[in-house]
Amino acid sequence: QIADRKGIRRGKLRLGVVTTAKYIAPELLAAFGEKFPGIEFSMKVSNRDEIIQRIKNTEDDLYVMGQVPTGEVDVEAIPFAWNPLTVMAPRGHPLTMAEKPVPLHAVAETPFLIREPGSGTRHAYLRLFAEKGLKPNVAMELSSNEAIKHAVASGLGISILSIHSLALEGTKGPIEILEVEDFPILRKWYLVYPRGRFLSLTAQKFVEFSASQEQFITDRLVKLWPDLAKYLIPPH
Ligand code: PGA
Repeated sequence: QIADRKGIRRGKLRLGVVTTAKYIAPELLAAFGEKFPGIEFSMKVSNRDEIIQRIKNTEDDLYVMGQVPTGEVDVEAIPFAWNPLTVMAPRGHPLTMAEKPVPLHAVAETPFLIREPGSGTRHAYLRLFAEKGLKPNVAMELSSNEAIKHAVASGLGISILSIHSLALEGTKGPIEILEVEDFPILRKWYLVYPRGRFLSLTAQKFVEFSASQEQFITDRLVKLWPDLAKYLIPPH
């Protein structure tokens, strides 16, 4: 333990994270930094396609992704926390007053705020709509979760976002989580690095540390949106 601490005293950790993970990664870094002081962090936040590009160019030590790349790059991937996607609507929107669960086709018919091509979040929900023979009624494309939140709150449409995106304001604010059939989309985050790449001691410790935070992150999500508990598979 002490030797480990010494070993990474002057470590560096360059993270590349998809945009949904920016809601949790700084907190992980803060807690990790408290345990192992003296590490210098950097964090690049990009969408899935750009993160895959960064992996190809070996620009960072570790990546946080919502879906393991297959084909594009050969990676090791360690799942470490839930990243559920839910439908979000402005408080008082007609769908918030409709009978629950709201049918998916009703969501598809409502003006929808979509993420840019290259976004893993967009990919995940478009796949669900396509599986059900549906297409969202796109009102506007926005390339950031935060911009989408503000657009939802402004009444420009509804959208689908990671529950983590409500970490600071909670679910009692201007945006409500809708109970919709086939939701939440239960995704996980993965710590990813190119297969065969030597991981620094700092990066190895960060992988271990992140895995140890899984229950804490789940508890926080359930506190944010208690309904989530009924969808999560109990640990075996
Ligand atoms: P993104 O996030 O939508 O910014 O690409 C990716 C993900 O959660 O898979």
